[in-house]
Amino acid sequence: MAKAVCPGSFDPPTNGHMDVIRRSLSLFDTVVVAVIRNLSKQPMFTSEQRVEMLKELLADQPHAQVMSFDGLLVDFAKEHGAGVIVKGLRAVSDFDYELQMAQMNHGLAGIDTVFVPTSPEHAYLSSSLVKEVGRLGGSVSHLVPGRVADLLKERWSE
Ligand code: PNS
Repeated sequence: MAKAVCPGSFDPPTNGHMDVIRRSLSLFDTVVVAVIRNLSKQPMFTSEQRVEMLKELLADQPHAQVMSFDGLLVDFAKEHGAGVIVKGLRAVSDFDYELQMAQMNHGLAGIDTVFVPTSPEHAYLSSSLVKEVGRLGGSVSHLVPGRVADLLKERWSE
């Protein structure tokens, strides 16, 4: 049974993230969506909130699991029996850093990374841009799942 781990900050999950996760689910028997707990910059949502959002969004996917993690991703992957890391690639600009991480992770633990190209309609999307556009009053409802858009609206109205 091939089990993959799909890690990220997911602050918040975007349509691009969901596209990559759903496509990963057609490639692997089980996908563990791994939400990093401690971000270098202050997150908008706590790791518990990010996990909760992803669980709701993936409630129709019996082969998806959502968990948070701290420390090295490869340690988390080994602990959960995942032999592969799956990452989305939006553009060539993502590639340098993603390749570096993939090589580091392989060097650390022999775990390979599979890159899933983001669907072109989501290629320009990032959580940071979603937050910036929304904070400045722009609409983000076409960029994130409906539930996430509602939570963002609530947050910005506080
Ligand atoms: O959503 P992001 O910001 O692209 O996610 C980055 C993430 C969480 C995948 C990456 O920072 C990570 O794997 N962090 C865990 C710490 C770790 O294992 N570092 C060494 C990676 S080479």
